[in-house]
Amino acid sequence: MQTLLGKHILLGVTGGIAAYKCAELVRRLRDEGAEVRVVMTRSATEFVTPLTFQALSGHTVHTDLLDPEAEAAMGHIELARWADAVLIAPATANMIGKLAQGIANDLLSTLCLATQAPIAVAPAMNHIMWSDQATQDNINTLRNRQIAVFGPAFGNQACGETGEGRMLETTELIEKLASIFSHESLRNTRVLITAGPTYEAIDPVRFIGNRSSGRMGFAMAEAAIEAGAKVTLIAGPVHLKTPPKVDRIDVESARQMHQAVMSQIDDCDIFIATAAVADYSPAQTHDQKLKKTEETLSIQLRRNPDILAEVAATGKVFSVGFAAETEQLEDHARKKLQSKQLDLIAANQVANHDRPDEDTGFNSEYNALDIYWANGHIQLEKARKTELARKLINIIAEHYKNKH
Ligand code: CTP
Repeated sequence: MQTLLGKHILLGVTGGIAAYKCAELVRRLRDEGAEVRVVMTRSATEFVTPLTFQALSGHTVHTDLLDPEAEAAMGHIELARWADAVLIAPATANMIGKLAQGIANDLLSTLCLATQAPIAVAPAMNHIMWSDQATQDNINTLRNRQIAVFGPAFGNQACGETGEGRMLETTELIEKLASIFSHESLRNTRVLITAGPTYEAIDPVRFIGNRSSGRMGFAMAEAAIEAGAKVTLIAGPVHLKTPPKVDRIDVESARQMHQAVMSQIDDCDIFIATAAVADYSPAQTHDQKLKKTEETLSIQLRRNPDILAEVAATGKVFSVGFAAETEQLEDHARKKLQSKQLDLIAANQVANHDRPDEDTGFNSEYNALDIYWANGHIQLEKARKTELARKLINIIAEHYKNKH
């Protein structure tokens, strides 16, 4: 199941007999390529020891909100941000009730309030408890809040009775969890994405480059695949694994990237330019390594083609640009939106000396984006690039659909 590959799954285990089945669930999630961290409620530890989950997940199991040692390793807010999805399995009637009421009196319920990731619950309880009006009202509240409810199944129960209340089997839970990450908003759509920096050669060993990691573009490619698109990714020099199902073309310089994009553009519906393309390259690339002779050295630069502007000017492709700005974010972004005739632009603040602790932008795993279009704006708050990419792909899909 490729949609779980590389995903951060926060598994919340609450106190029910089905907790023992989650040992297998952790192992199977890891087999699917997911990274799993486990949070247990106090009562869950009465059924299965944290050590079991620690051994299977490869990470310390978190049980307490106020544990200074665990908070020092990975605090609850960090855990909440780390998660791509939260799965509570088994979910007791008590935990479902707490989620419905917004109660945060232990680590797991607090995490659920603190995360922006999708949440799913897999109820497991006696069938009479499940059918009780209070439980059903709480479940409906969760559904209305877009919290996914997996199951429960009908069958024999640990209490000896038969009815609806069994936790779903591991395979079903994994399939349902994977479906959270795949939706069809870009089905039958071809998406071309540029990512990473470009290197402009000065001589055989030196180049002019930039600090772009390529993470945002790769996350966009993965999110577009999850949305059902056919994706081609044109990548500058980066150290990142190609997301599953993505066709990747590697290039080095801006001119190579330009050429690669132009060779693909007729087969594409949406172009997303996340690459940090060098605006200039050395007018002359030396065949041999330059020797130091003079006290000063000048390198003459010439303008590179603006790939995004050229693609957008064809008028045939829905074009999305990125803008990394150090000041006057909206002003600069809107000017680029207009001058390059874009449909959307995603702007982010880089190297803001007023906020040196804000770990976002070029080389970070996190980012925050402001999305502008001709008559609108939406702000996507700081989150992991993978999370932001999913949101941005949804926004792009919506605007693309409206345009056509
Ligand atoms: N872009 C491009 N080809 C270039 C330069 C930029 O496709 N030769 C794309 C980038 O991928 C990004 C957007 O254009 O989507 C950035 O716009 P740009 O005006 O080039 O931004 P900056 O390089 O930051 O411009 P400036 O230095 O003028 O702020």
